Amino acid sequence: MSDDSNSNSGPSVVCEILPEKYSIEPFTMVIFGGSGDLSRRKLLPTLFHLCRDQNLPDDFAIIGFASTERSDEEYRELVRKAIEEFGEFTVHPECWEKFNKSLYYVAGAFDDKKSYEKLSQRLEEVAVPGLKGEKQVLYYMAVPPQFLPAIFQNLPHCTMCTGEFNERLIIEKPFGRDRESAAELNTLVSRDFKENQIYRIDHYLGKETVQNIMFFRFANSIFEPLWNRRYIDHVQITVAESLGIENRARFYEKSGVVRDIVQNHMMQLLALVAMEPPIGFEADYIRNEKLKVFLTIRPMDNDYIDRYMVRGQYAEGEIKGKQVPSYHDEEDIDDKSQTPTFFAGKFHIDNWRWAGVPFYLRTGKRLNKRITEISIHFKQPPLRLFSSTCDISDPNVLVLGVQPHEEISLHLGVKHPGIGNQLYPVNMNFNYEQDLQGDIHFPLPYERLLLDCMKGDQTLFARQDSIEAMWEVVDPIINRWENTPAPEFPNYRAGTWGPDKADQLTTDDGRQWRIR
Ligand code: BG6
Repeated sequence: MSDDSNSNSGPSVVCEILPEKYSIEPFTMVIFGGSGDLSRRKLLPTLFHLCRDQNLPDDFAIIGFASTERSDEEYRELVRKAIEEFGEFTVHPECWEKFNKSLYYVAGAFDDKKSYEKLSQRLEEVAVPGLKGEKQVLYYMAVPPQFLPAIFQNLPHCTMCTGEFNERLIIEKPFGRDRESAAELNTLVSRDFKENQIYRIDHYLGKETVQNIMFFRFANSIFEPLWNRRYIDHVQITVAESLGIENRARFYEKSGVVRDIVQNHMMQLLALVAMEPPIGFEADYIRNEKLKVFLTIRPMDNDYIDRYMVRGQYAEGEIKGKQVPSYHDEEDIDDKSQTPTFFAGKFHIDNWRWAGVPFYLRTGKRLNKRITEISIHFKQPPLRLFSSTCDISDPNVLVLGVQPHEEISLHLGVKHPGIGNQLYPVNMNFNYEQDLQGDIHFPLPYERLLLDCMKGDQTLFARQDSIEAMWEVVDPIINRWENTPAPEFPNYRAGTWGPDKADQLTTDDGRQWRIR
């Protein structure tokens, strides 16, 4: 750290992280669903990037496990093609050589005990020993949620070398379909694995600007005193996508927007904004504070849901000048589908800091553009001193932009130059790309999360109690909507900001969505 941290000139020193913090033990990763969509699009290209950037140890092995019969060689070819298609960099022969020889494949069925014996044998042959002789094995669950119980039941058959293996599980969201099934799944997995071996991924937590929310809040002294009901009028969180459901109809039909985005990504964003300062930066201190937020979100009854929770489903429309079909007309979607693709809702956090401050959350597919941001809307000054010169002054708004622009901006009112007395809105901006010019590499969410798991750092992964608490928040909404038809569907045109009722949610309170 710099020794002149009190000087006014503002040292631009970046804290050094000691190298041993980043040392990663040799490991073996078994990817269940090793040839599926997630593996081909994200995991394998990410692992290759990490290898290319020399972030992986010299010794590692990756075993793809999936149902199709294929040889190691055929799997290597599949991986190479996936990296070429979905990776960010060209496949340089030297890097590929190293990666290629670390790839193996086992064909098997998730519910077949014998397949796990086969996997065990393969592990015996190829698992690389760590520095102390112990073999680090990471099991990545890149499979649709319905396969998880079978895998958790059979996986213990792999632990033939108990004592020699040090195992971790990486589990993709969604963890369960509701609180009850999440608890059941947990009971199953915790028979053989301890909580400190389980890494539940939410890729939003791997995004650089999402991690920055905590740094921004707790590394600066000027905002925290204002970060409460005395100064903040309300908070808005928008996760808007212009994409539709792509080729994920079967998954999406079972999931819908609340299970897909609200229960996980949005709840995590909400927690990062609303949590109390943790007593330290260790995983559990942070996860404890997040849990408290979920537990203090006001429970909702049906009346509340009908009034303050808005569902939507997109009709055909235009996005970036291109005509796109309605949800009903997407491939494999039933004409009468009631699945919501849009959500907006008003949440209350009943604790000392946030009592009376509404949190408006909004997300949807096929909206006007892809944008994720959190905006903190401050109260008006206590006295409208300038009311004679300007009827309406914009309140201060702090915007934390997550994507597509990774930036922070503060909206202020200043005097407009001239002889009159006019207020003029201006922005103070920090933009990662512009301000940190040069060779700054933004790790992709999966890069960061995979490395953290290899290091054994659970900070950016969800703990079981939080998972259940997040389900507890959204379960009543899902139940209400699944039990009451939505005759108004489809109720928003693709390329807009969702149904009119979502706008009413804020205008009824005398507020407005910042992005509209
Ligand atoms: C995933 C959802 O978790 O997040 C997808 O399953 C969604 O439906 C995606 O499109 C959005 O992620 P990002 O990083 O593009 O905002």
